[in-house]
Amino acid sequence: MASYTLKINNKNFTIEADPTMPLLWAIRDLAGLTGTKYGCGIAQCGACTIHLNGNPVRSCSIPVSAAANQSITTIEGLSDDNSHPVQQAWIQDQVPQCGYCQSGQIMAAAALIKRNPNPTDKDIDMAMQGHICRCGTYPRIRKAIKTAAALSTAKASTK
Ligand code: FES
Ligand code: FES
Repeated sequence: MASYTLKINNKNFTIEADPTMPLLWAIRDLAGLTGTKYGCGIAQCGACTIHLNGNPVRSCSIPVSAAANQSITTIEGLSDDNSHPVQQAWIQDQVPQCGYCQSGQIMAAAALIKRNPNPTDKDIDMAMQGHICRCGTYPRIRKAIKTAAALSTAKASTK
């Protein structure tokens, strides 16, 4: 066991954990942020996606020791009031069915829009590859990413 500081959503959490504990466990069980989901535990489904220093990563497959003192954003930190363009688009286009995979989908989509404000179908397919939805919401996810890109551009032009 060792002591680590996790910087999650601009807040510091001091935790005691085995260095090899998956970051996902620390986020959910030690920091108490349960919006990030466990699907497979082996980096194959995308349900556990968070941002580490702004990049989308699969938190089930990163040891907590590798994420200490770095900037972590979870679904809870995307916005205070569901105002992030991806959240707005997901509501507008009614994307989720059971919802289980959607935190990971939203975090992947948010990272895509940030680095590519106008993604093509191909860009979307590449970025969302390996984000499994057992309910098959893929067409709505693709539509909502385009909605989010438009909302994001509109928001930027009113600033
Ligand atoms: S739980 Fe991490 S990729 Fe499936
Ligand atoms: S909405 Fe059910 S798994 Fe994606």
